[in-house]
Amino acid sequence: MELIIVKNYEEMSEKTFKIIKNVIKDKENPVISMTTGGTPRGLFKKLANAFNNDLDIEKVKFLNLDEYIGEKNAPYTVYRYMNENLFDLVSKKPLSWDYIHGDEKNIEKEIERYKNVLDNTKRDIQVLGLGVNGHIGANEPGTAFDSTIFLANHDQSTIESTANEYNIDISDAPNQMVTMGFKEILEADKVLLMVSGSKKAEAVKNVLDGPISTACPASYLRDKDNVIMIIDEDAASLLEK
Ligand code: GLP
Repeated sequence: MELIIVKNYEEMSEKTFKIIKNVIKDKENPVISMTTGGTPRGLFKKLANAFNNDLDIEKVKFLNLDEYIGEKNAPYTVYRYMNENLFDLVSKKPLSWDYIHGDEKNIEKEIERYKNVLDNTKRDIQVLGLGVNGHIGANEPGTAFDSTIFLANHDQSTIESTANEYNIDISDAPNQMVTMGFKEILEADKVLLMVSGSKKAEAVKNVLDGPISTACPASYLRDKDNVIMIIDEDAASLLEK
């Protein structure tokens, strides 16, 4: 893992944006798999802005890390987030966008379908955020490190974070999502783990200074060469060195 510590949220967003922008410029048909949530909002703004200027969205294939189980246009879905924070803001369309259908009745069949997409689509970039409990995607504490795309149950802290982030009542927040497993996450050429703010400092400390353990899912990324962790000073504030 490469660790990059930057000053603040803006610099974390800018640093991550630049890495993605360079991959999009260099590749003929780059495949970018996005995460959602509070952390990448600044990154999405920069991407939307660049796609409306000199960066070519029409050659980009988009995928997603995960999706909540629920109605397609519920306030918290990845589907809605991607539209509101990117596609609705950009005048041109991407080459493709294949997302997990969290409203599919037969969810096992949908998992199989998306697994097939992932098996046949090598990702150049996988963007990740970090849960306060160290989760990535919905690989919550206790998830085996050989996980592949699956239907995950959220920890209580994750349900609370979702309710907070999307300004909804806790009783309306989803408690399950389909998520890539560690296997698919790490198949990307570059995995960008973004972390900002003091509320994530404890998780960052566990990721970098604690044991590599399923108790802190993201600790598994620590000895992986294709992972770049981009964090701000507040998120880094509890690190020993
Ligand atoms: C959520 C999502 C993740 C996200 C993470 C951090 O539960 N499943 O995809 O990256 O938790 O969210 P946030 O950036 O809002 O703190």
